[in-house]
Amino acid sequence: KIKACIFDLDGVIVDTAVYHYEAWRRLANQLGFDFTEEQNEQLKGISRIESLKIILNWGTVAKTDEEMQELATLKNTWYVEMIKKMTPSDILPGAKEFLEAVRANKYLTALGSASKNSEMILKQIGLMHLFDALVDGNKVTKSKPNPEVFLVGAKELNVNPGECVVFEDAIAGVQAAKAGNMKAVGIGEAAILNEADLVVKGLFEMTIEKLENL
Ligand code: G6P
Ligand code: MG
Repeated sequence: KIKACIFDLDGVIVDTAVYHYEAWRRLANQLGFDFTEEQNEQLKGISRIESLKIILNWGTVAKTDEEMQELATLKNTWYVEMIKKMTPSDILPGAKEFLEAVRANKYLTALGSASKNSEMILKQIGLMHLFDALVDGNKVTKSKPNPEVFLVGAKELNVNPGECVVFEDAIAGVQAAKAGNMKAVGIGEAAILNEADLVVKGLFEMTIEKLENL
């Protein structure tokens, strides 16, 4: 029986995926190359430093660990500049309504995000109060598809992994949920998120009935 819902943040609750893409592209362009939206799919759900390593590899650019830290910080400065301007109007369609519905139906809720900026974003968009637990990149070290972030979420909620449903827009995130023995609802394209138990275009398509039928 499902007892808890764990939500990814970027691309599920709020459309920061476009800001990540913009900031990473700016960095790549500065280093003399570019990458496509299709390549960007591989970065979704991946931690800041792991994302940078993948991007540098695409551009066949070699950097020392120290240089990589600097580049990751630079990207984050640009990214934070963009998310600082976010307001509740940036919440993705149906996200707030679905969160309220699951809570009204006595399910527990947790955030399960790789982002170290998640608290700032949740405060900006005014959704902090809808989560019983927050697990993000400040609490875990293993990047999705490792299930760590979701397993810690289940632990903080005091439920078993098998009692959790994860909502994810990233291929790596869906894989992490499945690796953690959880149900996964993909947010986006069914063709891309084919490992999920159910795929919807956005949380506006989710209902309590669909949740219970998983
Ligand atoms: C999310 C996003 C990734 C991002 C990661 C780390 O998982 O989907 O694109 O790289 O968080 O975010 P941060 O805000 O810590 O750089
Ligand atoms: Mg995401």
